[in-house]
Amino acid sequence: MSVPEAAAATARANVNVALVKYWGKRDAALNLPAAGSISVTLDGLGVEARVRFRRGTTDRFVIDDAEASGDERRRLSQFLDLVRAECGRDEPAEVETRSTVPRAAGLASSAAAFAALALAATRAAGRRLDARALSVLARRGSGSAARSIFGGFVEWQRGERADGADSAAQPLLDAGAWDLRVVVALVSSARKAVSSRDGMTHAATSPLYPAWIEGVARDLTRARDAIARRDLEALGLTAEHSALTMHAVGLGAEPPLLYWRAATVECLHRIWALRAAGTSAYVTIDAGPQVKVLCDPAGEDRVRAALTDVPGVERVFACKLGGGAEVVP
Ligand code: PMV
Repeated sequence: MSVPEAAAATARANVNVALVKYWGKRDAALNLPAAGSISVTLDGLGVEARVRFRRGTTDRFVIDDAEASGDERRRLSQFLDLVRAECGRDEPAEVETRSTVPRAAGLASSAAAFAALALAATRAAGRRLDARALSVLARRGSGSAARSIFGGFVEWQRGERADGADSAAQPLLDAGAWDLRVVVALVSSARKAVSSRDGMTHAATSPLYPAWIEGVARDLTRARDAIARRDLEALGLTAEHSALTMHAVGLGAEPPLLYWRAATVECLHRIWALRAAGTSAYVTIDAGPQVKVLCDPAGEDRVRAALTDVPGVERVFACKLGGGAEVVP
């Protein structure tokens, strides 16, 4: 097949933080979730991906100036195979990605990377997918990437179909419609964390897993309602409950799975003390020791101050809510 002229495109997308967590799959190969989830997209923490289809024999990936190899390369190449199948192309591609998520930020950038890649690769292949189709595609790279196609508050539907065509994210509320902050406490972790992929596979063997999945529907309803009413307390309490229950599932697995460090626990207590003293601030924790706190702009400085001197916290920074994936002209 000959390579058309404009076979290159660049796109960027931001990371997102789940408020109602995705933790368990109904189909591992298709990245289909066992339950829905709700997230916020963060401003300024993103990945820009440039994709160019060209003559040649193999795909090439340069991630933040370093050539990808091994499993990382295989995973990216398999994702491009999906794009090629979807777009009816067969040329290999050259992909360069650049992250604005500091490596040391402890925030997985795979959601932003696969969302940016889905958009850039389909455009480079000459196709304009709508946001829903992009979300379904991005999901195949990394489940949470389905949500990074959109900005603000986003819900990713579990879907019912075996082929996953109805498991896409959709926007709930624009980033500009509710001014909130997510304060991140970066906690150093001596051991390399278990990936979310491996973590959720293992957690599914926990006797607590069925109860967790059963409870997600209630958390989703509460979070959706709280977002519609701009009710920070109701949303924050739901988010905290979802995160702590998700981590409790891992504690019940054999062998146990615990992502927290001492500083993670201390941050929780600091935020609870702050809340008892009148500041609306709520914790969420993903597959790592980092603590993320949802609060309103007026509470940001108090949250930062409460977390900064916790022993083991390396850095504290705050983000506004961000927009969805977009093509870079
Ligand atoms: O999309 P993955 O495979 O990186 O899994 C994400 C898992 C959590 O971050 C812990 C929860 C979530 O909903 O993002």
